[in-house]
Amino acid sequence: MSAPARVATPPTAAIIDGRALARNMRCDIRARVVDFVSRHGVVPGLAVILVGDDPASAIYVGNKIKACEQVGIHSRTIRCDQGVTTADLLALVETLNRDPAIHGILIQLPLPAHIDMPAVLDAIDVNKDVDGFHLYNIGGLIVGSTVFSPCTPYGVLKLLEHANIPIEGQNVVVVGASNIVGKPTALMLMARDATVSICHAKTRDLAQFTILADILVVAAGVPRLIVPQMVKQGAVVIDVGINRLPDGTIIGDVDFDGVARKASHITPVPGGVGPMTVTMLLSNTVDAAARFIV
Ligand code: GUN
Repeated sequence: MSAPARVATPPTAAIIDGRALARNMRCDIRARVVDFVSRHGVVPGLAVILVGDDPASAIYVGNKIKACEQVGIHSRTIRCDQGVTTADLLALVETLNRDPAIHGILIQLPLPAHIDMPAVLDAIDVNKDVDGFHLYNIGGLIVGSTVFSPCTPYGVLKLLEHANIPIEGQNVVVVGASNIVGKPTALMLMARDATVSICHAKTRDLAQFTILADILVVAAGVPRLIVPQMVKQGAVVIDVGINRLPDGTIIGDVDFDGVARKASHITPVPGGVGPMTVTMLLSNTVDAAARFIV
């Protein structure tokens, strides 16, 4: 008797569609901007500082500016040469801090190595720190008193909320301990009473941790780092990775096709977390403008 034919298991996970959620949220933000302008006669304004000519940074900044246009936020891009000094940037930030037409200031990272990045980020007026990278906002995540949450972790939370994923009491594993994604994501989920473990590039036996996760957030910058054997059946998997392969394809940190057969919910790349990051920046900018109305 011949062996039964092998049938490939179809993906069973629900796709958490960040593109659709971002589109809906941007409609709401646009309506909020229209209402804000008619009530106060003030257009929310965002300044973006772009240093050097890194092509990826230029694309990210272009996307942010385009998104501002879509929702009616005024934006100003300030381009600086690679050789700009810390003192020049501090002076620029100080000018923008005083500019009444600007309610949010974003400095695109990474900055060149010779720049004192913490000094420049901490020079931003906390009330205009729409990226949430000022020491006050980062530190505030510990005690729950931020003015602005960093955009990518904020977007991750919105995706979980939108998909009705319970967070309280869940085992969350965050893979990646960066200051701008991994650590703040972990703190924001702890604030929702999750049990959070943070893994990183030097974690031994990563799979021993990831297999325990009810919610697995991956922000390691390593293509297809997470394979199905590392994921618990029914886990919720949020892929923050954006990796460009030599052929130009964009993929995440998760083996999507394999893991989608095991997870209950999964975000795609592209179209998951990415569109939410920009959306939360828009939301923070409108919130920032509102803080300036007395
Ligand atoms: N570089 C990569 N991600 C980000 C981000 O969210 N904000 C800024 N300012 N720079 C980045």
